[in-house]
Amino acid sequence: MQQPSRPDRNIALELIRVTEAAAIAAARWSGRGDKNAADGAAVDAMRFVLGAVAMDGVVVIGEGEKDQAPMLYNGERIGDGRDPKVDVAVDPIDGTTLTAMGRNGAVSVIALSEAGTMFDPGPCFYMKKVAVGPRGRGSVDVNASATDNLNELAKRLKKPVQELGVVILDRPRHDDLVAEVREAGARVLSITDGDVAGAIATGWPNSGADVLFGIGGTPEGVIAAAALKGLGGEIQGVLHATSPEERARAEALGYDFTKVLTTDDLVASDNCFFSATAITDGDFLRGVRFHDFGATTQSLVVRSRSGTVRTIETFHRHDKLQEFTTAGF
Ligand code: FBP
Repeated sequence: MQQPSRPDRNIALELIRVTEAAAIAAARWSGRGDKNAADGAAVDAMRFVLGAVAMDGVVVIGEGEKDQAPMLYNGERIGDGRDPKVDVAVDPIDGTTLTAMGRNGAVSVIALSEAGTMFDPGPCFYMKKVAVGPRGRGSVDVNASATDNLNELAKRLKKPVQELGVVILDRPRHDDLVAEVREAGARVLSITDGDVAGAIATGWPNSGADVLFGIGGTPEGVIAAAALKGLGGEIQGVLHATSPEERARAEALGYDFTKVLTTDDLVASDNCFFSATAITDGDFLRGVRFHDFGATTQSLVVRSRSGTVRTIETFHRHDKLQEFTTAGF
């Protein structure tokens, strides 16, 4: 009897085409103040290219429920239907506002793992997170105070707390956290959006970011887990509700707001894949550049099993770009 194939090939090398297409389509809208148009263009392009990838995928993290998201909705079958069977998480734009405002830090991302191994965020929009790179792995605890985490991380990294860079989303809910981090002596690297890239930065050499703290999107936490697995880092999360009603609804579905979700809880497979293409400039990738001949993109491609991390610069010819987007080139 034929055994179902495992995703042994490096699908990430095919997924790069997916995030490249989405990033190019989104970048056409960069700085134009219309985040819905940017998102729509990225979703269209991503779905178009995803359909051609040889896989039998289910969108675990997509654009939302079917009635609100005509494409890439949660539960949608994606790929050409051939093995391997995989869970897919997409974020055609992490940083829709960044894109619309022409600010740095927007990326198009996709993560993929063996079927049934990806945490389904369901209605749990937010998660309290802590993320570190490979050298910090095992030194932090999402339930510990920021001060304790910084002290432990400083010991592990063998540098003073004063030299630690802490990525935190700029939100009023983080005012106390920011004050505590500064009081402890560390530097706050404030981001207005995009905590997938923020989490990856902790695992990226010389980014200046050592740890990410704070409450951000749960889907983004799962996607970051796939990336950090490959980078050798770690993310922990605890689901966070914004109201008792939200919590009760999620608890009725079986979600536990006290459980620490480890990297392995978020992506239970050791064989996962991640691709990100920068839409606008970022810490580790340059954003899409349009020029007379077409466009140039920079992407990050990660496979957890081998731990290979590739950065890939691609030149896209003008006439080819027309094939996957109607954004106008
Ligand atoms: P979008 O691209 O969907 O706007 O998400 C951007 C983002 O900053 C995520 O990176 C982050 O996890 C989340 O929003 C934080 O949510 P909120 O803006 O509600 O604080």
